[in-house]
Amino acid sequence: MQFNTRISAAHFQDDSDSWLLIDDQGRRYTSRFIITAMGILNAHTMPNIEGVHDFKGKAFHTARWPRDEAIDLSDKRVGIIGTGATGIQTIQEIVKNVGHLTVFQRTANWAAPLRNAKISAEEMDQIRADYPKIFEKCSKSYACFVHEADTRSLLDVPPEEREELWERLYALPGFAKWLCNFKDIGTNKEANRLVSDFFARKIRERVHDPDVAERLIPKDHGFGTRRLPLESGYFEAFNRPNVRLVDIREDPILRITETGIQTQSELHEFDIIIYATGFDAVTGSFSAVDFQGVNGLKLKDAWGDGIRTYLGLTVQGFPNMFMSMGPHQMFGNIPRSIEYAVGWITTFIGYCHERGITRVEATAKGMEEWTEHVHDCAKGLLANEVDSWMTGVNKNLAHKQTRSIARYNGPAPGYRRRCDEVAARGYSDFKMKREPAEEESSDAREGLQTPTLVEMRP
Ligand SMILES: Cc1cc2nc3c(=O)[nH]c(=O)nc-3n(C[C@H](O)[C@H](O)[C@H](O)COP(=O)(O)OP(=O)(O)OC[C@H]3O[C@@H](n4cnc5c(N)ncnc54)[C@H](O)[C@@H]3O)c2cc1C
Ligand SMILES: NC(=O)c1ccc[n+]([C@@H]2O[C@H](COP(=O)([O-])OP(=O)(O)OC[C@H]3O[C@@H](n4cnc5c(N)ncnc54)[C@H](OP(=O)(O)O)[C@@H]3O)[C@@H](O)[C@H]2O)c1
Repeated sequence: MQFNTRISAAHFQDDSDSWLLIDDQGRRYTSRFIITAMGILNAHTMPNIEGVHDFKGKAFHTARWPRDEAIDLSDKRVGIIGTGATGIQTIQEIVKNVGHLTVFQRTANWAAPLRNAKISAEEMDQIRADYPKIFEKCSKSYACFVHEADTRSLLDVPPEEREELWERLYALPGFAKWLCNFKDIGTNKEANRLVSDFFARKIRERVHDPDVAERLIPKDHGFGTRRLPLESGYFEAFNRPNVRLVDIREDPILRITETGIQTQSELHEFDIIIYATGFDAVTGSFSAVDFQGVNGLKLKDAWGDGIRTYLGLTVQGFPNMFMSMGPHQMFGNIPRSIEYAVGWITTFIGYCHERGITRVEATAKGMEEWTEHVHDCAKGLLANEVDSWMTGVNKNLAHKQTRSIARYNGPAPGYRRRCDEVAARGYSDFKMKREPAEEESSDAREGLQTPTLVEMRP
């Protein structure tokens, strides 16, 4: 383990079938294989608003919340930009102890109660005893969660029965209200409109000022078409006299000044500005590293007109590079996806190690077919008709972004089955090479001498 080390470049070395990694201090490392595990929500982004560095008070992104000092907001005028899952959970918490809070909202988000509660020792014992059952459920479900959708189509169910299900789900903790809902709320526009109406009613019930309630109800996307933020008292925060909502679609932010945020109609002065403006999601961590594959091919060029992968785990032109939680993998219950990717990658590297294989690379055909499959899985999903970090349209770039398919939208068991099949075929879908240099595509490589594979040295 080498801590506090940021890799800034990774170049494939054709002559030795290895990677050269360079960190931001200029130190160099070589290794036969590399595994990226850089996070799909790790490269945080400041908003592309003029003057963002001019503010003289304290300002920080939520992903860089100051660690070394306690932030006391009790007598402070605070502004927050961003109402995604992070903004929502930040707002509901800081209103408990803030002088005055102004929330700058660009897009209202559907949010629903988290309903976290203390877990008693007995409940925890039961959960531990149930681990095998819980893991079994996660391994069978669509997105690796314990939840499964109601198998009925919403439009086949009488209105009073729908209401009954929705009320029951609304009272449950976690993602049940999203993932245990009728199976077609994410694909059928009318079903989605009806379920959205239910959640809009809940917002109207919880927010006292009808104008504020209307602004908090999303009008440009349906319930569950973005990752659902879960909240504990978020909507009630707007009932407090010291909390104000500014809808920046009506009153756009012009710039950040030395003293606050200037919108078209007024200057809002603050002591602290919090940016809950999200991440350059999915590919941001990759863009921050100068990845160069065979013949100096840059990853950013390989993905220039859209992400392409094979199995979400490899990229043609980038031999011996594996991605744990890269694009085109399942983004549901992410730790479960990572667990599978790590197992698959480890097994493949072990396979290479045992057989003296020094180089593995996805084929162009494999990558095109997989990418097409990922795009096919995305067809018909309302989520892909909506701007969000999952469709690649939140990157705070100056130019207009186009939507992309960044994640695997099919069922997780199907994804794992396809990857398992590739392993069972002896990885014959990959181009492989072993020492001494020799092109192969079959798995008949038993009895070869094992080379020293991984040399990690500064
Ligand atoms: C606020 C928040 C809450 C979340 N909650 C959930 C949740 O409840 N459930 C869920 O499934 N997912 C959740 N996620 C998604 C979450 O990102 C993942 O589940 C989890 O963190 C993924 O783990 P990871 O190891 O892939 O990436 P990360 O945890 O993001 O770790 C990536 C690591 O790579 C390092 N790194 C990146 N680039 C480089 C580089 N160039 N050189 C060296 N190191 C580098 C980073 O410093 C970091 O340590 C949440 C995300 C956020 C932002
Ligand atoms: N487990 C959890 O409870 C939890 C908690 C937090 C986060 N997460 C994970 O992290 C993901 C990302 O959440 P996030 O809230 O950090 O990011 P996000 O969902 O991308 O939200 C970013 C917010 O900032 C706004 N924004 C960005 N740039 C802006 C600009 N220039 N001007 C004005 N507003 C701007 C966005 O508005 P627009 O919508 O208009 O772009 C959005 O409201 C979540 O979807 C979830 O997967 C999980």
